[in-house]
Amino acid sequence: MKFEKPNSIVISGTGSYLPKKVLTNFDLEKFLDTSDEWIFGRSGIKARHIAADGEAVSDMACVAASRALEDAGLDASSMDLVIVTTVNPDMLFPSTACLLQAKLGIRNNIPCFDLEAACSGFVYGVEVATRMMQSGLYKNALVVSSEKMSSMVNWKDRATCVLFGDGAGAVVLSASSDENTGIIGTVLGADGSDTAMLRLPAGGSAMPTSEETVRQGLHFLQMDGREVFKHAVKIMQEKALEVLDLCGISADKLSLLIPHQANTRIIESVAKRLKIPSEKVYVNIENYGNTSSASIPIAIDEAARSGRIKKGDYVLFVAFGAGLTWGATLAKWDK
Ligand code: ACO
Repeated sequence: MKFEKPNSIVISGTGSYLPKKVLTNFDLEKFLDTSDEWIFGRSGIKARHIAADGEAVSDMACVAASRALEDAGLDASSMDLVIVTTVNPDMLFPSTACLLQAKLGIRNNIPCFDLEAACSGFVYGVEVATRMMQSGLYKNALVVSSEKMSSMVNWKDRATCVLFGDGAGAVVLSASSDENTGIIGTVLGADGSDTAMLRLPAGGSAMPTSEETVRQGLHFLQMDGREVFKHAVKIMQEKALEVLDLCGISADKLSLLIPHQANTRIIESVAKRLKIPSEKVYVNIENYGNTSSASIPIAIDEAARSGRIKKGDYVLFVAFGAGLTWGATLAKWDK
């Protein structure tokens, strides 16, 4: 095996997938004590996509990944690494990445693994793939973020279920001999001191599934929305500024900010702190809700395909999620 260290790691392809079924706020009004006015006013969400029964995270990942491969002009067989980020894998094991490997028909025995960093998963995944690729050992990698949040929310809990949606986003990362392009810099972090703020308590080794855990509804996502909101605002603002500082790029040089789509009020606060005008901020939460780690790669794919990002543009991704975890990446678009 030849080690040829690349000068940069670039995003060479993007893809996304949203399930067909759309559930609007008006649909929710029919079975929940809620209103379009409350949901849209508090979160910016109007609708979300819901995966079909039997449609698994690996199925959505497969479509998004295939689209990213087509966009990159590469076959699945030319991938050297597959990372899937998700909080709702098809099953506890094997990893969804291995299931995806099989679905994509990747026969060569490349490393495939899942990475769980909740809503920050995509930013974590890109950083891990980038660092592995910088060794020279992996030339092309798939980072796929796929989430079926509808399978883990309590559809009777209006404080949480209205916020989430299903979908998948993917990027192909490729080693490049060009300098000063692609992934420029990333900051990652976590704070595990208050995990109860946002979690799904049962089904793991700490609280294995039992009749009692099911009866108590412990297999549903639990969230202290107000606390999460406060932390998200503070941390996303700080980390966006930190990665710009690390890379020596000022916020006014950014062409597009692509934040995790959790709440328009959180997004607006980050844009305000960075003094970025709204036309340079990508927001699609209205149509999709919070798709956890899939939200940034879905937005990247939409922005790229609609011409909102052009070659040479500086683009900033910033995420925050359960853990707590966070991450911000500055990239120079190279397509
Ligand atoms: N419809 C109508 N009323 C509701 C609903 C609903 N769907 N949900 C809650 N309410 C009620 C509450 O019961 C409460 O009533 P009360 O005052 O009589 O007790 C009232 O609305 C206000 O609730 P708050 O929690 O104070 O509302 P808030 O303004 O904080 O907004 C929200 C709630 C939207 C959840 C907000 O806190 C938020 O976005 N937090 C961030 C959470 C988040 O994004 N989590 C995603 C996972 S983490 C991540 O992705 C980054």
